[in-house]
Parts: sequence; structure tokens; C-alpha cells
Amino acid sequence: MLRDNHGREVDYLRLAVTDRCNLRCFYCMPEEGIDFVEKSSLLSFEELLRLIKLLAKEGLRKVRITGGEPFLRKDIMQFLKALTQIEGIEKVAITTNGTITARYLDELEAMGINSFNLSIDSLNKERFFEITKRDLFDTVWSCFEEMVRRNLDVKLNCVVMKEQNTEDIIPLIELARNKKVAIRFIEEMPFNGAGRTRTVLEWDYVKILEMVKNHFGRVEKLVDPKHSTALNYKVPGFIGTFGIIPAYTRSFCGTCNRLRLTPTGLIKTCLYDDGVFNLRDLMRASATDEQIVAAVKQAIGHRYKDGFEAEKARVKNPSISESMASIGG
Ligand code: GTP
Ligand code: 5AD
Ligand code: SF4
Repeated sequence: MLRDNHGREVDYLRLAVTDRCNLRCFYCMPEEGIDFVEKSSLLSFEELLRLIKLLAKEGLRKVRITGGEPFLRKDIMQFLKALTQIEGIEKVAITTNGTITARYLDELEAMGINSFNLSIDSLNKERFFEITKRDLFDTVWSCFEEMVRRNLDVKLNCVVMKEQNTEDIIPLIELARNKKVAIRFIEEMPFNGAGRTRTVLEWDYVKILEMVKNHFGRVEKLVDPKHSTALNYKVPGFIGTFGIIPAYTRSFCGTCNRLRLTPTGLIKTCLYDDGVFNLRDLMRASATDEQIVAAVKQAIGHRYKDGFEAEKARVKNPSISESMASIGG
């Protein structure tokens, strides 16, 4: 078992397989002038499988694939197949933008991957375009419908932003009236790749919940899974649920079981840190299995207490300016 210096068990790896994306969600990356990393700088799938096999022996149980858009990476399906076959890995889940995902669903289901977090920040085509800068709402919507039709475990992610999509909050929850889906509203974080800083978060989880309660009257608080980032609720009578993720407020750090690996091999023990060490460099310097495991354990043994401590300790880039696509979220 991998346990950190605050007694938290770490059994969940969030793996960003690429920083590339075919959308340009403004809260994640600028529209132009992005330097995507070269293929040779990415951890190869062989390197990743070696690493995950080693960590699975130490107690790693869940891997979430993120990006960028994971399905843009060449040969991702072969990698996923191999990943699901690693002994000890009980769950593989994927966070995707849903633009090219539908075509892979048959194969993914056959591998046993049936849990998808889909980003959809607006149900209105124009607003979707304003946010993502691409006219792909219909494609994403049909991917969502197909996932529901297949009875997959679908969570919809909506980053709530002032003057952008707050009018979508209620219509999004309405989707849960007749569909087995979880809608999650995420506080916006400053990981937008543009170096823009925002000191006050207007639409925090309290304000989001207030709006929902004002509209629906009563909402039922559900028991949250142990390591949940979301505070989960249900509108009485609805089939699906909704949740609010206090990603900027950072109220869930006390139960954090997550380790992160960026596309270029940087290990992060907190979303808000600026990277602990580069695993790719270590692996390419001919490290032995024991040395790799020891380095990861060392990082886990020195985790920050929470996202505030991690943010304060940043040295490379004191103020957050990375794109979420380069971290994986
Ligand atoms: P599961 O627990 O595996 O279902 O993942 P999730 O729902 O947290 O993952 P998802 O990729 O859908 O991310 C939803 C939002 O939560 C994103 O904006 C993430 O950046 C944010 N998030 C996930 N983990 C953390 C974390 O450790 N800290 C913070 N602050 N935000 C996080
Ligand atoms: N703040 C909050 N959430 C973000 N995401 C991307 N960038 C940000 C940000 N700046 C979300 C995406 C995706 C998830 C992995 O992270 O919408 O659903
Ligand atoms: Fe792409 Fe996701 Fe970033 Fe949007 S949030 S630009 S879909 S990586």
C-alpha cells in the first residue's frame, strides 16, 4: 500500500496521455500560440505500462486517463487494452471531450471500460462554441446520448463561469430527470495556459448550490464516496444526480488519494504543485525497477497537506499559468 506522510492511502493515478486537444476551451488553453510537446518528449506507452505494473504491485488500483483529449493520441486503444490487463488495476476510467469518442465505444466496452467523464459546458450551441471555439456541440451531444443508450457510467463535467454558462446550470440538471447520469459543476481554476490570474472566484460551490436550491426547492444530499471530489445531490424524483466540485475552494484535500503524471513524465502529488520530479528522465537514465518505485514512494512520502500548501510552495512558476491540458486536471 502507498501511504503518504498525512496517512492518506494513494491508490489512484491520473494519467494525462497527451497535451493535444481539438477543442480550445478558454478556461483551459488559449486559442492560439500553444507549444504542444513533441512526441519524443512524451512518456511512451511501453514506459507507462512498465511504471503502472510496478505501482500496481505497490497498491495502485485505479487509473484515470485524461489529457488533452486522450483519443487524439495514436495507438491509445492498444495501450488501454494492455492497461486493463495489468494485475491489480481494478478500474480504468476516462475523461474525454466526446468529439471523437463514440467510434471507440464498442472496443472500450469489450475491454471493460465503461466509466466516462464527458466535458460539456453548455447545452446551447452558440455558448458551446463561445467556450470551446469549435462548432462540435452536436457531435458531443450524440456521443453523450450514445453513452446513455449503452447504459454506461456517465458523468458530465461543466466548469461554471460568470457571464458564460450559468444559465445552463438548471437545464443541465434537468437532464438527470429521466437519465441515469451525474452532472457535475466545477469551480473554475486558474489553469488556463494564458497566465491570466483571477483572485476572486465568483461562482463558488456555495453560490452554485444556492442557485439550484432556489430553483428546485428541496435537494437531497447524498452520501459521497470516500474519495469523491464532488459533493453529491439529487433532486427528489430524478433518476440521475448532480454534484458540485469545489476544485478551487479545495475542501476535499483531506481524503485525496490521487497521484498525477503529466504527458512529459512530471510526477505531481497535488494538482496545485508545480511538479515534484520527472519520472521520464529517471526512466531514460536506465533506472532499475527498485529505483523507480523508491522515487515515487519518496514523492508520496513528502506530500503537501493540501492544495493551498502546494500552491504556496511552487518555485518554478510561482503563479499558476499552466494549461489544464498539460497537467490532465
Ligand atoms: P473520479 O473521482 O475518478 O470520478 O474523478 P473526478 O470526477 O474528480 O475527475 P474529472 O477528470 O472528471 O475531473 C473533474 C474536475 O475535478 C476537474 O476540473 C479536475 O481538475 C478536478 N479535480 C480532480 N481531482 C482534483 C484534485 O485532486 N484537486 C482539485 N483541486 N481538483 C481536482
Ligand atoms: N478549471 C476547472 N476545471 C477545468 N477543466 C479544464 N480546465 C479547467 C479549469 N481551468 C476540466 C475540464 C475537464 C476536467 C478534466 O477538467 O472541463 O472536464
Ligand atoms: Fe480540450 Fe479538455 Fe482543455 Fe477543453 S478542457 S481544451 S476539451 S483538454
